[in-house]
Amino acid sequence: MRFLIINGPSLNMLGRRDSAHYGSMTLEQLNAFIGEYCAKNGDSCEFYQSSCEGQIIDKLHAADCDAILLNAGAYTHYSYAIRDAIECISVPVAEVHLSDTDEREDFRKVSVIRDVVKFTVKGLKHESYLEAIRRFKETLKR
Ligand code: DQA
Repeated sequence: MRFLIINGPSLNMLGRRDSAHYGSMTLEQLNAFIGEYCAKNGDSCEFYQSSCEGQIIDKLHAADCDAILLNAGAYTHYSYAIRDAIECISVPVAEVHLSDTDEREDFRKVSVIRDVVKFTVKGLKHESYLEAIRRFKETLKR
């Protein structure tokens, strides 16, 4: 399968953000970890990171892959624009979070994208991404 992994605002700062929530990997290390897992399973993956809402939306619109893993960061909690972009593409999207957003501040318990994604994986740190890949492979397998 061909995966697109989109990481949103401040995820380029991984390694310098609170490791209790996000783990200690940098984004580069996280991408290498996901890339190795995909390669081992014969899958391909493209990585994209932007802190700009519009650029994330443009990337979603242009997606040419089988499935998307989206960690929209804080946009998860209020971006109706990203929600609409997910809704109008045919490629399935998984909502991914490193931390368990339901066990943190109240504003993080709200996800405005949850009803337009296929499923959500959260709270497993870097393993959240692999779990999302496994779930897509299970549900989309030919
Ligand atoms: C996050 C959780 C969000 O609340 C936060 O704004 C992030 C990262 C996560 O991966 O746990 O930037 O999406």
